[in-house]
Amino acid sequence: MTTPTTATKSDGAVLEASGVTMRFGGLTAVRAVDLTVAPGEIVGLIGPNGAGKTTFFNCLTGLYTPTEGTVSYKGTRLSPKPHLVTQAGVARTFQNIRLFANMTVLENVLVGRHTRTKEGLWSALLRGPGFKKAERGSETRAMELLEFTGLAAKRDHLARNLPYGEQRKLEIARALASEPGLLLLDEPTAGMNPQETRATQNLVLAIRDQGTAVLVIEHDMRFIFNLCDRVAVLVQGEKLIEGTAEVVQADERVVAAYLGTPFEGAPGDEEAAEVDAAEAHAAEPRAPQPADGTTAAPGTRTAPDENPPNGDAR
Ligand SMILES: Nc1ncnc2c1ncn2[C@@H]1O[C@H](COP(=O)(O)OP(=O)(O)O)[C@@H](O)[C@H]1O
Ligand SMILES: [Mg+2]
Repeated sequence: MTTPTTATKSDGAVLEASGVTMRFGGLTAVRAVDLTVAPGEIVGLIGPNGAGKTTFFNCLTGLYTPTEGTVSYKGTRLSPKPHLVTQAGVARTFQNIRLFANMTVLENVLVGRHTRTKEGLWSALLRGPGFKKAERGSETRAMELLEFTGLAAKRDHLARNLPYGEQRKLEIARALASEPGLLLLDEPTAGMNPQETRATQNLVLAIRDQGTAVLVIEHDMRFIFNLCDRVAVLVQGEKLIEGTAEVVQADERVVAAYLGTPFEGAPGDEEAAEVDAAEAHAAEPRAPQPADGTTAAPGTRTAPDENPPNGDAR
């Protein structure tokens, strides 16, 4: 909805995943998935827990070597080695945050720049003389990224002392430090409150406007449908459907895939929660307790900000 959506064209694609399959013993976590991201696009990847979304990301970024299929970035096939994938121009954040907890905010971003400086990762971690020199050159850019993500005032704080939402932002800043052409975000708003989620939405739009294409996994449907030019739905490892927000929302199979696990941030969720809250409040003086001892009436949905961070990190 943010830019005119064009049909997928592998010609000139930033990312082209073709027939990606990942098996773990007898389990096929990802099955023959094709996915393309065009320049300037924000593409969403959704699906119930365990659908294979993170596994697919791991195949794209070289953490896993796909059992079958190929992954290309700007027309060149990627080697399944994380550092080579980063060097090629693909950066990611993790569903389970991975920061250097005892380094400062600024240092975390500087480490993220190691693929773009002559100094390597070890030099960055060990702070050799070469790193100190490169650091000065990198610091300006790192500070720009902290401004961009709204973390500049926290530059000297230890990463582990940041609130959860800011740790997620720092992961994005660190990923951007490698100057990627494609950014992969795995549940960037998990554990965020609605304000932080909106800020992240604007941040992703700004990232795209600066020329980095984005592929994002997220459970918050409002976030996904507001943001994405195209959305692909993964169910049990297979791509069920792919299209604009309108097309995906209108597909009954997508709704069916989620049934039984009402998803946070479903369209209308906030309104429903507000109505529930108002009704509960109005009925308060004589509200009967549910007979089975549960605290929520059937059908009561949890507001997105009341959900704990997704714990199925992998
Ligand atoms: N390294 C692994 N070894 C074995 N099974 C795995 C591994 N990684 C993921 N899986 C399995 O693959 C399936 C998809 O998981 P995942 O990609 O984390 O789903 P999602 O991110 O969509 O919630 C799950 O059944 C999960 O248990
Ligand atoms: Mg996942």
